[in-house]
Amino acid sequence: MLGSDGRLEPGASPLDRPTSPRRRILKWLIGGSAAAFAAALALPALAIRSLQFATKDAAPGDVLVYSPSDADAPVGQPLKAADLAVGVGTQAFPDQKSDNANNLIEVVRVAEGDAGLVAYSAICTHLGCAVYAALNQDGLIACPCHASLFAPAEGAAVIGGPAPRPLPSIPVSVDAEGNIVVAGPFSGPIGPV
Ligand code: FES
Repeated sequence: MLGSDGRLEPGASPLDRPTSPRRRILKWLIGGSAAAFAAALALPALAIRSLQFATKDAAPGDVLVYSPSDADAPVGQPLKAADLAVGVGTQAFPDQKSDNANNLIEVVRVAEGDAGLVAYSAICTHLGCAVYAALNQDGLIACPCHASLFAPAEGAAVIGGPAPRPLPSIPVSVDAEGNIVVAGPFSGPIGPV
């Protein structure tokens, strides 16, 4: 307890001493610094999370549009089944989803008819380079980085190079307008695992 002169009475606990203005300011500053530190940690994490939500994966029903990775292609235009002759490959993104690099898809016609269209992730399973859009002279999908080769008519099986597994496939179909559309998810993880 405090006496009338503001001093502690004999036997009173030091906890009875009122907090001085200087101590109150110090406590306020320490509390403010802790809050600022916590905010500095949290804001980058929130920014990363919002970026993750900004990109979207390929999904059934997405129309494929030509990718800039094919130099000869009309970028952004729908990829039509009739555009691909047997033995020709190109690359496409699901429309409005090109900001997700994992959505890059290699589409190849291996036979006539809608069933002759096959599609795979265009991200190499070795170290994640994008494969060439055009097939090589042997009709294979080739990676420019370390020369892995994949056979489009055989489920993108590895024919050569260091890639440890085939390119994941993705089912496609043809809609009423002749556009090639995504019909299901990738068969496995994209790129190196
Ligand atoms: S990244 Fe494709 S072969 Fe190495």
